[in-house]
Amino acid sequence: MISQSTIDAVFETARVEEVIGDFVNLKRAGSNFKGLSPFSDERSPSFMVSPAKGIWKDFSTGKGGNSVKFLMEHSQFTYPEAIRYLARKYNIEIEETEQTDAEKAMTDVRESMYLVSEFAKDYFHKTLLNSEEGKAIGLSYFKERGFTNETIKKFSLGYSPETWDALTKEALGKGYKLEFLESTGLTIPREDRSFDRFKGRVMFPIESMSGRVLGFGGRILTNDKKAAKYLNSPESDIYHKSKVLYGIFQAKQSIAKLNNCYLVEGYTDVIQFNQSGIENVVASSGTALTPDQIRLINRLTRNITVLFDGDAAGLRAAIRGIDLILEEGMNVRVCAFPDGEDPDSFARKTPHDELVAYLENNSKDFIQFKASILMNEAKNDPIKKADLIRDMVASISKIPDRIQREVYVQECARIMDISEQVLVSTLAQLIQKDIAEANKKQKQEQKPFEVHRNQPPQTGTFSGGDPEDPRTGPPEGYDYPGDMGYEEPSQKVDILYGFERKVIELLLLYGSVEEDFEDVFLKADEEGNVKEVSEKRKYKVFEKIYLSLQEDEIELSNQLFQDIFKNLINFFNQNEVFSLDKYLMHLQPEFAQEVTNILMEDEKVVIHDWEGQNIFPKHKNVTIEQNVSDTIFSLRWFLVSKIIHDLKNSLITDPQDDNSEVLSMVVDYSKLLNNFSKKLGRVVVPYH
Ligand code: CTP
Ligand code: MN
Repeated sequence: MISQSTIDAVFETARVEEVIGDFVNLKRAGSNFKGLSPFSDERSPSFMVSPAKGIWKDFSTGKGGNSVKFLMEHSQFTYPEAIRYLARKYNIEIEETEQTDAEKAMTDVRESMYLVSEFAKDYFHKTLLNSEEGKAIGLSYFKERGFTNETIKKFSLGYSPETWDALTKEALGKGYKLEFLESTGLTIPREDRSFDRFKGRVMFPIESMSGRVLGFGGRILTNDKKAAKYLNSPESDIYHKSKVLYGIFQAKQSIAKLNNCYLVEGYTDVIQFNQSGIENVVASSGTALTPDQIRLINRLTRNITVLFDGDAAGLRAAIRGIDLILEEGMNVRVCAFPDGEDPDSFARKTPHDELVAYLENNSKDFIQFKASILMNEAKNDPIKKADLIRDMVASISKIPDRIQREVYVQECARIMDISEQVLVSTLAQLIQKDIAEANKKQKQEQKPFEVHRNQPPQTGTFSGGDPEDPRTGPPEGYDYPGDMGYEEPSQKVDILYGFERKVIELLLLYGSVEEDFEDVFLKADEEGNVKEVSEKRKYKVFEKIYLSLQEDEIELSNQLFQDIFKNLINFFNQNEVFSLDKYLMHLQPEFAQEVTNILMEDEKVVIHDWEGQNIFPKHKNVTIEQNVSDTIFSLRWFLVSKIIHDLKNSLITDPQDDNSEVLSMVVDYSKLLNNFSKKLGRVVVPYH
């Protein structure tokens, strides 16, 4: 585990504009930076970075957060990966905290395996570039294939000498343990001596999404038909063939940006495409795609284009496994190369622009492609045609989206020249079968459902509607007392949502600001008469908000807001001096989106202005005190109204019971509400 002090150091050092600037071309816009969204294909910039707040916001997709969140979204890092990346970027030493012995042993093992793999990558690469043998054999081979020095460096290509233990010896000499050389498969143990697995091969390191070396592919240089052309690392604790995609580290940004991924078969296809300036390409390494590999791509894009060799075998290989991709809800296109060409050979002889145009013009929707190919084969053979229909329908039935399925049914009916009805009924049968199977499977795994009942009204809690989502809102016929005249239930909920959001905004912007608030309390005069007096008292905004909500035992109805609320209050209590930067830096990813949305409202106005749109900024000439008090009163008014409503409802549902207690609560809360209503005379509704 990374220690908290390392995490703190990373957050304190990282500058959001520098971190993002490595991936997005940012231009200054006032106190902010703007750029083209790396998450969508846009022409006018709607991606904002605020150095002052340390956050970013992408208005084209709604994503947003701090530096770490950006790396998680953009580069698909996990939280620790993002921290490690930033630590490396800013030269911060990573301090690891204590783990249990078992944990330590396991991380130590994996970590040692990563380290020795990294060492081997460097060793092979240096050997390729610097040793006489490497240059004469390995480097000249790559040059012959047309790879430039830049490409060789980008993919850390290497050479493993024709000596039986060159790597093993070198690694042991540098203090790497034989145990890990063996468990990564780099070294093969024999009774008295151990030897290199990849002896005499050119080397292709296989890297994870975040760029760690997991294993290797080694290509033989002779034309020995008996020896395997490629030798790969064996399965290990760090290398699982079915879970890696060759080239994903170099491709991920481009895939996300262009919103498409080219899938090829081989190492050299990936490399040659990169050299031709097409980076959004990965290889399955000669096998059909596995669900894990598809999910890896799915994190970056929903669009995949399968490229295959221009022969019958290539075609079969491409069609194989594509149903699996459809099943994951991805949009699949296919593109064939001319006879005798594979992506490598074709890219090598085709200039960049022509290659791009070729891919664009020859990529076809998979379903249509499959239908027309098979149709050619089955044209005059009724039995084959029946098989074909079943085959096509099987593919279509894998598509999760109903509307998309329907479109394909129409398209296939046209291509195969049969009635839609036939396809529809075959499809219905298949889907029913799938559902039945899924149900059966689910039953076996099912846990008993929890029963959710409407809670009886409790003092001060907001019990109506779906607590997870206030927009789905209170039950039907919801009726607020008072004469505020909010007619539509959905509008009421939106207003409540707005007030709760406003509370969070106020905490974020002014939480630690001290203001004079009007306090109403009871006081006894000299004669002993108790009466209400109001006085100005100093409070920090967060204290005032917290205490006011507590007074009515009210919690925010929106679960997310409530979580953020508690988190913020804790933060204020723990930190004498509040700094928004510091809070944002440590913000949990779950909260980042909403908090950023709230904070970037102002920038949104700026952006729209800048795009020449006619949006008027909100008036800001209200004092903080007034803003806070109004919001609290409005929120309390709404929440208390809700309580009264629930109490009244419980009166109606159970007329036999003794209602006196509930009735007195209704009276109490109504008094409270009246009090609020007086003050509400000057309340500004913050969200419209
Ligand atoms: N492959 C493998 N083991 C083999 C053969 C192939 O792992 N014995 C994998 C490799 O990832 C290879 C891919 O399958 O890149 C495609 O195989 P193939 O088309 O035979 O190789 P190419 O990539 O075309 O390699 P080259 O151009 O170097 O012959
Ligand atoms: Mn090839």
